Amino acid sequence: MNIQTLLNQRIQAAMVAAGADADAPALVRQSAKVQFGDYQANGIMGAAKKAGSNPREFATNVLAQLDLSDLADKVEIAGPGFINIFLKNDWLGSQLGTLRQSERLDISPAEPAQTVVVDYSSPNLAKEMHVGHLRSTVIGDAVVRTLEFLGHKVIRQNHVGDWGTQFGMLLAYMERLRAADAQVSMALSDLETFYREAKKCFDEDETFSQRARELVVELQSGDELCIKLWNEFIEVSLQHCEETYQMLGVSLARQDVMPESAYNDDLPSVVSDLEAQNLITEDQGAKCVFLEEFANKDGEITPIIVQKTGGGFLYATTDLAAIRHRQRVLGANRVLYFVDARQSLHFQQMFTLARKAGFVAPTTELTHMPFGTVMGSDGKPFKTRSGGVAKLSALLEEAQERAFQLVAEKNPDMPEAEQRNIGRVVGIASVKYADLSKNRTSDYVFNWDNMLSFEGNTAPYLLYAYSRVASIVRRAEVDVATLTGAILVEAEQERALAVKLCQFAEAIEQVAADGMPHFLCAYLYDLAGIFMSFYEACPILNAEAEVKNSRLQLALTTAATLQQGLSLLGIETLERM
Ligand code: ARG
Repeated sequence: MNIQTLLNQRIQAAMVAAGADADAPALVRQSAKVQFGDYQANGIMGAAKKAGSNPREFATNVLAQLDLSDLADKVEIAGPGFINIFLKNDWLGSQLGTLRQSERLDISPAEPAQTVVVDYSSPNLAKEMHVGHLRSTVIGDAVVRTLEFLGHKVIRQNHVGDWGTQFGMLLAYMERLRAADAQVSMALSDLETFYREAKKCFDEDETFSQRARELVVELQSGDELCIKLWNEFIEVSLQHCEETYQMLGVSLARQDVMPESAYNDDLPSVVSDLEAQNLITEDQGAKCVFLEEFANKDGEITPIIVQKTGGGFLYATTDLAAIRHRQRVLGANRVLYFVDARQSLHFQQMFTLARKAGFVAPTTELTHMPFGTVMGSDGKPFKTRSGGVAKLSALLEEAQERAFQLVAEKNPDMPEAEQRNIGRVVGIASVKYADLSKNRTSDYVFNWDNMLSFEGNTAPYLLYAYSRVASIVRRAEVDVATLTGAILVEAEQERALAVKLCQFAEAIEQVAADGMPHFLCAYLYDLAGIFMSFYEACPILNAEAEVKNSRLQLALTTAATLQQGLSLLGIETLERM
């Protein structure tokens, strides 16, 4: 059940009946202030303008066509032609009753369900995952979970970088270790060190770098030994990623890995397809595509290079092969890319070219979901204290340790195993939530004290709120399954809570549409606050039977909504903390 959608439909129908165009939107929004009711429709002025009529008059005509008496007790015209809607208390109560009895909080499955391909995490396998990979991984995962919950068919694609020039360097280093009879697998256990040492040889030793270049070519043309060594490297590297995903509670698995190398055989045909459509221009031996749409004010165009002089293919070529695969083989209706904002031009050009070349259907939505950078307190991209890139696994270990210290201080009598488990859940949740709760497109500052605080829009605050609601319900000692009876919406705080609970669908549909989990975070934070005000003003356990029964159901629904919401964000909840 989505109140906003329902009101949009009803009001739009009334607008059409009053003479508006069939596609005139009602623009129903949640009202920002109580005096404007629960919802307001903002579309009247626009429609009136189009029809050349007076907005207030048109609004009056719309109201004459509009019957909301089943759900609203007041519908009024305000200002130049807004319509304010005040929902009925008993309607809210009965909506909540349905919501509470339904298995999925009365969230209707999306209509039509789409096939959505989501490209996220997608690290380069040359190094271990670092803090820069956090955003794509956790934001992408929250959106994927939300889309699945709404009934879409989601295909995760972890487009890992396993096929570039740097792999020649790593192979040359493996070869050198082998020649010296050193244990390659031991050396690989620390990928960071391995990469650094290989890079050092590459920069300092001409014979080595020459060999590295040869090896890339050998690898890409399928040389057996190269492929074997490369596989060994990729395996270790993917295992590192998987450990990190597991620690983070991210739903990516091995079957979601669709590496760059998988498109190797498709690359020549991408170029020939483009050639056949006269989209390619040769420029100093390289095959390029110049798209007029991307000319700057001096008419210069940064081309998309699809094949280098000498035959090598590029990142963009692989992405074109991938997009074609996602359309033709995976059958995508929508393809979402959770990738750093710095790659915006690449994606805009690639999407335009893919459409021109007919690699994707005109109706398929292609969206780059860019995100900002994780910053340190010095205003520069986040680094460790020693100035190195922050390995994601080390960061997550530290988060769990810090949260454990906090828990141990707060609950000195709790057994250590439980303190550790709470520390694990709170630590991981804090890092994820700090990221998810920020507007995706902005940069944010990584700050341990803020993310681990029990106050404000943080994971500890929400987890604690959830555990409090859960404990209230526990203390009532009722069988929640059999708890029925009317939900009474009377006190002001009961009403505020009821309205908020009914708006869960709106929050998650927004996440699915815009790929922005911070809308859900803001919703859950508001919900927790509204519940606390309700709990202060409206006694539950001491209330008389009918009221107690109703308030307990409000508490139960709050707990279920918080838990479901956090789970869509990929965050575990705790019954006690
Ligand atoms: N591996 C790339 C990087 O680390 C990100 C890949 C994103 N996905 C894509 N289809 N290009 O920058």
